[in-house]
Amino acid sequence: MTRVAIVYHSGYGHTHEQAKAVAAGAASVPGIEPELLRIENAGQDFAPVLAKLEKADAIIFGSPTYMGSASAPFKAFMEASSKPWFEQKWRNKMAAGFTNSGSQSGDKESTLMQFVTLAAQHGMVWVSLGLPPGNNSTKGSVEDFNRLGISIGAGAQSPVDAGPDVGPSASDKKTAEHLGRRVAEAAKQWNSALIDA
Ligand SMILES: Cc1cc2nc3c(=O)[nH]c(=O)nc-3n(C[C@H](O)[C@H](O)[C@H](O)COP(=O)(O)O)c2cc1C
Repeated sequence: MTRVAIVYHSGYGHTHEQAKAVAAGAASVPGIEPELLRIENAGQDFAPVLAKLEKADAIIFGSPTYMGSASAPFKAFMEASSKPWFEQKWRNKMAAGFTNSGSQSGDKESTLMQFVTLAAQHGMVWVSLGLPPGNNSTKGSVEDFNRLGISIGAGAQSPVDAGPDVGPSASDKKTAEHLGRRVAEAAKQWNSALIDA
């Protein structure tokens, strides 16, 4: 069994919908057991989450973009991960990321780059989105996969005046599913390569 953990924060439920789509994509790969680990607040005890992550083969990071950055609760988690960092416990695990914001851009790449740096500090192996940009030609549409044209990870946009029943869009959820599936497949291959080595 290959374990894919999705650790994320969602203040108002929109990024939670994106996280569920990532999990559904991972679950579509045979032999994969995805686990959703939601961070509730910056002051929580992170020890149980860190204990679960230690057992994961892949960790997918997710956060809403708040002020061009990962949210404060997610950043508290990032700092708490200095404990496994001291012993490089996440070394050689797969890593990937997703974020959701109110604007089409919303400076989401800034949040994803924070995840890339986090993964690199932990010695993890970054898995990109692996989709061409959508909605970038006269034939494009908002229904396209990767309609926001991000390469680092999965992006989503949710209108700020509507609940998680409205946003993220179906295309953003399909894009998130793709990321979950891609990470799950990569982790399976990586695990079997490590076993064979
Ligand atoms: C404190 C705060 C800061 C925000 N900053 C941004 C931002 O920099 N860019 C953006 O596009 N949206 C921003 N938003 C909008 C959120 O990203 C958006 O509402 C998102 O869907 C919230 O996700 P959640 O429901 O998972 O918390 C911000 C919202 C809050 C509450």
